[in-house]
Amino acid sequence: MTLSARLNARYGSHDHPLAHLSETELSDFHNHTFDGLLQHRSVRAFDTRAVPEHTVEMMVAAAQSASTSSNFQTWSVVSVTDPERKARLNAVSGQQKQIDACPLFLVWIADMARLRMLGEQRQVPHGSLDYLEAFLVANIDASLAAQNAAVAAEAAGLGVVYIGGIRNSPEVVAKELGLPPSSFAAFGMCVGYPDPKRPASVKPRLPMSAVLHHEQYNPLAFDSATREYNTIMNRFYTEQKMNTPGEWDLHTLSRLSGEKALRGRENLKTHLHHLGFELK
Ligand SMILES: Cc1cc2nc3c(=O)[nH]c(=O)nc-3n(C[C@H](O)[C@H](O)[C@H](O)COP(=O)(O)O)c2cc1C
Repeated sequence: MTLSARLNARYGSHDHPLAHLSETELSDFHNHTFDGLLQHRSVRAFDTRAVPEHTVEMMVAAAQSASTSSNFQTWSVVSVTDPERKARLNAVSGQQKQIDACPLFLVWIADMARLRMLGEQRQVPHGSLDYLEAFLVANIDASLAAQNAAVAAEAAGLGVVYIGGIRNSPEVVAKELGLPPSSFAAFGMCVGYPDPKRPASVKPRLPMSAVLHHEQYNPLAFDSATREYNTIMNRFYTEQKMNTPGEWDLHTLSRLSGEKALRGRENLKTHLHHLGFELK
C-alpha cells in the first residue's frame, strides 16, 4: 500500500492536509517506522499462538528507549501470563474478552516507589514525590514507555490493545500484582498475534485541523472538524458492518456524562491516597 493510501485510511478521507503531496514529496517519511505507525489498530481478537520467547524483554528494551522526565524512569511493567491471574485482573477490569484471549498481559505502572525507597534507604529528603507533579511525571513516563513497546510489538507482527479498565479497582490490582506503596497500575496492554479470521481495521482519526494549531490554539477549529468526523465515522462503521453507536460527538459525550459513566473511577483520588500518593 502506498503512503498516500495509508494516510487516507488514517483520516478516513482523501481530503486531509497531506492528500495533495506526491509519493516523491512524501519520500522522507516512506520508511518502516512511519508505515507501521500509520497502520496501528487495536487488536482485540488473538489467535492461540504464544508470543515468542524474549518478546517481553524486546518490548521493554524499546520502552526503556523512550525519553523519560529528568531520567527519573518512574515506571515499571508487570508481565502477566498466568491465566488465573489474568482472569482475576479481568474480573476487576470490566470482563473484557481480549484480556482472556491474549497470551500476554502487560500492566504498566506509574512507579514512584523505587525513588521513594531509594530516598528512605539513603536517608535523603525526597518530599517532591508527594506532589501531584511527580504523579503526573510517572504517568507520562509510563505512557511514553508503553507506546514505544506497542510500536515495537506491532513491528514484530504482534497486536496490542491498551486496557484502561485496570484503573477500575486500583487497590485490588495493586494487591494482585504485589505493588509497593507509591506505585499505581495506570493501564494494561493485551499482546498477542492477531487472529487472521477477525482482522481489525485502521480507525480514522479526527481531521488534523481539530488537533493541529499554528502559533496559537484555535478554539473554533473543532466544530466543522467534528461534524466532518461524525460523517467519517458513520461511513467507517457501515463499511465495517459494525453497529453505529450514534454520532461520534454525542456518543463520546455520553461516555463523559458524569460520575456514573466513570464506573468506579470516580473514586480514583481516594484509592490513590490509600496507595500512598499524597498528590499535594
Ligand atoms: C489508555 C488507554 C486505555 C484504553 N482502554 C481500553 C479498554 O479498556 N478496552 C478496550 O477495548 N480498548 C481500550 N483502549 C483502546 C481504545 O479504545 C482505542 O485505542 C481507540 O478506540 C482507537 O482505536 P485504535 O487503537 O484501533 O486506533 C484504550 C486505549 C488507551 C490509549
